Amino acid sequence: MTAAPPVTGARHVGEALDRVDGLAKVTGSAMYAYDHGPADLLHAVPVEAAIARGEVVQVDVDSMLKRPGVVAAIWHGNAPRLATSDEELAVLQSRRVSYRGQYIAVVVAETLDDAREAARTLHVQYAPEEHDVGLRADHPKMYRPDSVNAGHPTDTEQGDPDAALASAPVVVDEVYSTPAEHNNPMEPHATVAEWHGDGLTVHEPSQNVTGLRATLASLFGMPPAHVHVVSPYVGGGFGSKAKVHPHVILAALTAKQVGRPVKMALTRRQMFAATAYRTPTIQRMRLGAEPDGRLVALTHDVFEQSSALAEFAEQAAVPSRTMYAAPHRRTTHRLVRLDVPTPSWMRAPGECPGMFALESAMDELAIACGVDPIDLRVRNEPAADPHSGLPFSSRNLVGCLREGARRFGWAGRDPRPGMRRRGRLLVGTGVAAATFPALRAPSSASARAEPDGRYTVRIAAADIGTGARTVLTQIAADALGSTPGLVTVELGDSALPRAAVAGGSMGTASWGTAVVRACEALRERLSAVGGAVPAGGLEATADTTQEVRGRQRYARHAFGAQFAEVTVDADTGETRVPRLLGVFAVGRILNPKTARSQLIGGMTMGLSMALLEESIMDREFGDYLNRDLAQYHIAANADVRDVQAFWLEEDDPHLNPMGSKGIGEIGIVGTAAAIANAVHHATGVRIRDLPIRLDKLV
Ligand code: MOS
Repeated sequence: MTAAPPVTGARHVGEALDRVDGLAKVTGSAMYAYDHGPADLLHAVPVEAAIARGEVVQVDVDSMLKRPGVVAAIWHGNAPRLATSDEELAVLQSRRVSYRGQYIAVVVAETLDDAREAARTLHVQYAPEEHDVGLRADHPKMYRPDSVNAGHPTDTEQGDPDAALASAPVVVDEVYSTPAEHNNPMEPHATVAEWHGDGLTVHEPSQNVTGLRATLASLFGMPPAHVHVVSPYVGGGFGSKAKVHPHVILAALTAKQVGRPVKMALTRRQMFAATAYRTPTIQRMRLGAEPDGRLVALTHDVFEQSSALAEFAEQAAVPSRTMYAAPHRRTTHRLVRLDVPTPSWMRAPGECPGMFALESAMDELAIACGVDPIDLRVRNEPAADPHSGLPFSSRNLVGCLREGARRFGWAGRDPRPGMRRRGRLLVGTGVAAATFPALRAPSSASARAEPDGRYTVRIAAADIGTGARTVLTQIAADALGSTPGLVTVELGDSALPRAAVAGGSMGTASWGTAVVRACEALRERLSAVGGAVPAGGLEATADTTQEVRGRQRYARHAFGAQFAEVTVDADTGETRVPRLLGVFAVGRILNPKTARSQLIGGMTMGLSMALLEESIMDREFGDYLNRDLAQYHIAANADVRDVQAFWLEEDDPHLNPMGSKGIGEIGIVGTAAAIANAVHHATGVRIRDLPIRLDKLV
């Protein structure tokens, strides 16, 4: 029996600690889902529907089974039944085809090559029906959903925006649009599913192991304790690994049917079918203002798509409820259910496309009023949250704009477009604001002290590359009065204390609260036994459900300011972004190294959104036609030049024990608008539909 280490008083939160799992990742010893290969493993390859709407009449299972190495071919006609009303996840439970690319069968073989070849040549007979995959704002089936993503109200209205717009001295009334975009984390989705008796183990890169366990348990009609989701390392997700997608269910169902472990590794092309994408949006923005730029009215009307199977309504107008003071305002969301895959979460759903529209419109208003775009935003700074009326727990948008202007060199900017040239290149600069809510969800954690002075903290959190494992280690070290070197954080496993999703930029706030409470409880237990850890160790647990729920007394949001410099080739229209600079007010920075990576990663993805990313719908075939990284372009090293992220010190006591706001998503918010605004400044051409392709500029 040795004494627990003394309280050091050192603060490890705020240190630029290297990733505790960095070595394991770069040396290849970190095991990702795909790396698992239990003995007796079979390979499963899904078969995607070749029609966008209709029925599967017949699948030629018999001739498939005569092929060498093929063990099974499963379709609706021979699949086991699942207990679910979730049509999205009810794989092989019906003959209906609701979108092109939907899984209508799966082929299982001893080798991947045999399975692939069998899936490629499987004969499927369809009864096709006419499909509709075209989003338009005036689609006759546009409807008003009951609520939008994250539980926000569908519409809001204050005052009389129409009357205020009719009498406003200055009006901007424009339509902005963003294309469908597909999540492309570096690690493609891959599932290894294995049944042992009535228990199921699933290796799957997941942003939410607790949630995935619950979904699998419910679909296969078993208690959650019989399902084990293993996901210690995740190679990025951007939201695509947060919700449960059909491939996981298909892999588990297949393993059950064949009675052997099954690996189903999606190819990059298959990821463009059913893992996740951002809905295309059409957004009408109307801003009414006094000649000095002060807003009197703001309306934001969003039109989006969802699938025939599920309603997903992205909350793109929600940031317009909070950003600026305007006495008369309205926001609406309308949705049409098309014969397309269900859109889902992609980094900053809502804020990302919504702020492209709002922050582009604010730039147009600044020009219409002859007011500097930074001054315009400062003039419209609200005293309290315009939507809820609640005071902001902290709001430092103005500080971010000012600090950004100083660092970027904004002062003295000539607002006239098309005035600056470097050889063939037109040069421009632009600014846009960013925001993201500071959320928190219930989680639980355990903390354990060993007699040798070490600690283990357990929580079913997810580190999707963000550095969560590292930051939770720092948080625990401080809460325990120990040091990171003595603390091991275990996460990414559904057997650990249940925890919130790594989504909505709320992972660290949610898990960190639970970790702090568990560590505090452990210290109490330790002091009750005189500070000495007994031979068997000492453990405490905490659950934050009570702490996290309850009446909100503050509007909690992170803010930021994005600055972009662009060059546009006057002859070819080719746009480059030599410089991106962001300043963020995001509470306390827990680890400057991992935080900076999150912020510049988001900004890079925003650059990619502005210039490149676009999933193009082929209306005849009823599917997105660019389905690999050769055709769906993502910013690569040569596209990304000088990207800098800074932050303001923010001391906000109304958030969580760490004083942090989420940083995973705000970096992408506003970036595309800053770039589009800079392109206008360079060329005089206003691009209102992303991406900013050269053919739109020449
Ligand atoms: Mo994020 S799109 O909420 O994982």
